[in-house]
Amino acid sequence: METEAKKQTIFSAAQPSGNLTIGNYLGAIKNWVDLQDKFDCIYCVADMHAITVKQEPALLRRRTLETMAIYIACGVDPEKVVLFVQSQVPAHAELSWVLSCNTMFGELSRMTQFKDKSAKNTGNVNAGLFTYPVLMAADILLYNTDLVPVGADQKQHIEIARTIAQRFNSAYSPTFTMPREYVTKEGTKIMSLQEPEKKMSKSDPNPLAYISLLDSRDDIIKKFKKAVTDCEALVKYDEARPGITNLINLYSCFTGKTVAEIEREFDGRGYGDFKLAVGEACADMLDGVQNRYKEIVDDKAYLEDIMKKGSEAASRIAYKTLAKVYRKVGFYPQPR
Ligand code: TRP
Repeated sequence: METEAKKQTIFSAAQPSGNLTIGNYLGAIKNWVDLQDKFDCIYCVADMHAITVKQEPALLRRRTLETMAIYIACGVDPEKVVLFVQSQVPAHAELSWVLSCNTMFGELSRMTQFKDKSAKNTGNVNAGLFTYPVLMAADILLYNTDLVPVGADQKQHIEIARTIAQRFNSAYSPTFTMPREYVTKEGTKIMSLQEPEKKMSKSDPNPLAYISLLDSRDDIIKKFKKAVTDCEALVKYDEARPGITNLINLYSCFTGKTVAEIEREFDGRGYGDFKLAVGEACADMLDGVQNRYKEIVDDKAYLEDIMKKGSEAASRIAYKTLAKVYRKVGFYPQPR
């Protein structure tokens, strides 16, 4: 009999938000797709994290479904991965409570994301914003996760998850797998098309600054045409010229061509030609995603079936971990 080495487990999650951009796609979603063949992947729509800021209930519900659809349209394959909605697996909330009793107030106070968000959200500095990292630790630790692919802004959250796991394991006995962050390749930081020193953001008030995954071909081409560059009109990678450098990086992501190949291709040609080529390559890439998205986003039965299977598969793993934890902390077992 062939013995297959057990694959490592990857866990990642994303909040359900509308209007994802090519920055989200190239920086995060594409990684999820690339990892699914090599690892046991568990991907989650983190709706519980989303309510740490005010949400319109009907919109949150719709966006949860749309987020599932967009991930699938981008190539996340529900046959290969476990794809589920966080609130549909109550073990996340349950483990989160136990972990919060093993997390120090001081540790949470030092989280930079809490400091930033509470400074920005002065009207709603709720306790969930404060304990957000504990819920995230629960997400990760429930699944014996080896690796967590995250962006730089989330590194501190992985560290605190490790601290919590370590503390629990030494206070009781080895229970949780120690997760590590999975660093994906650099160079996928996509910048604004209007202010190329800033990261591309879906919440930018100027829609010319970003390309939404659902923008029409005409809009995409128009936005690249209007992308801010310098007056040198030279298609050459140069960090001192962030506008053209961002476009070269994008064109490379869309086409797989190297920087050197791109510089050669556009040698002696102006920005006009280049911007059109970038726009077309982007629209070509998004064409398939958009068609697939349109096919499935209104197929509630299909998406709900995936959700159901996903939460069942996730629950099987999560409740095994939770049962161990409940036993170790001394909770009285359910009388049968
Ligand atoms: N906090 C993450 C974000 O906003 C989303 C998230 C929730 C997550 N739980 C997670 C990411 C667990 C990785 C692992 O992007």
